[in-house]
Amino acid sequence: MSRILEHAGRYAYALGASAYLFTLGPFSARHRRLLSHVARHFGYRAPGSARPALPEVDLYDLVPPATRFQLREPEEREGGVSLYDLVVIAAIVSDLRPSASLEIGTFNGRTTLNIAANSADDAVTYTLDLPAEGLGDAKLPLDPADPGMIVKPGSGALFAGTELAPRIRQLFGDSAAFDFGPYRGGIDFVFVDGAHSREYVLNDSSVAMELLRGGRGIVLWHDYAGWDGVTRALDELYRSGGVWSGLRRIRGTTIAYLRVGDGEHA
Ligand SMILES: C[S@@+](CC[C@H](N)C(=O)[O-])C[C@H]1O[C@@H](n2cnc3c(N)ncnc32)[C@H](O)[C@@H]1O
Repeated sequence: MSRILEHAGRYAYALGASAYLFTLGPFSARHRRLLSHVARHFGYRAPGSARPALPEVDLYDLVPPATRFQLREPEEREGGVSLYDLVVIAAIVSDLRPSASLEIGTFNGRTTLNIAANSADDAVTYTLDLPAEGLGDAKLPLDPADPGMIVKPGSGALFAGTELAPRIRQLFGDSAAFDFGPYRGGIDFVFVDGAHSREYVLNDSSVAMELLRGGRGIVLWHDYAGWDGVTRALDELYRSGGVWSGLRRIRGTTIAYLRVGDGEHA
């Protein structure tokens, strides 16, 4: 009887909270995030958006279950990855132990910090960002929501001043115009999370492939099946075959995964 009462109490509380969430909720960033979780949980796709085509894999298809990793700044923030997305990125980096990583799209540096924390002590993590003053210089069309993340007070606040900052190198520029020459063929892990239009994701994906050391390594993309331009671009690449046929979506996340070189195709 007491268990039924406990459930009933929780149900009534959740009902009241839901009434608040669905009326005043959209005025708070934290509640907007919860609303998107609810919509996604129930299979929401924006009208006209692409149905994701990538086959799904579990994290443990990609890394051993005993993989140990560090998590820094676990609290979710607007414009960043979810907590489970961060877990997945940390576990994959920790298992790969890259000597050099490159992220496209720094924002507050939360994922940069976690890439650096899970790499070897002598590894270097590069992170490229388009700062607010570069907004007008973007060479390719942006997604309408991109300017909201480009125009911000600064990049990398979450790693600045930490003990990992000396292992992180900040780069600034537009990923469609930046000279990646010095990094080409020297990167083991790439995280693509810059502009979200189809055009930028296609550009950044082809950059990622050129960056890989000896054509081997791991590329992750954020916002697959969460942002239409990302979904369309990656599905298009997947359907084009060849190396792209190894693209996978990691279950429970908006992360797309590609391992290139030996051990590819999870
Ligand atoms: C979604 S946020 C990145 C979040 C971050 N990777 C994280 O996990 O916390 C997107 C970032 O990409 C940057 N960006 C947008 N367009 C870009 C471009 N064309 N080249 C480089 N960076 C870009 C924005 O300035 C913004 O900081």
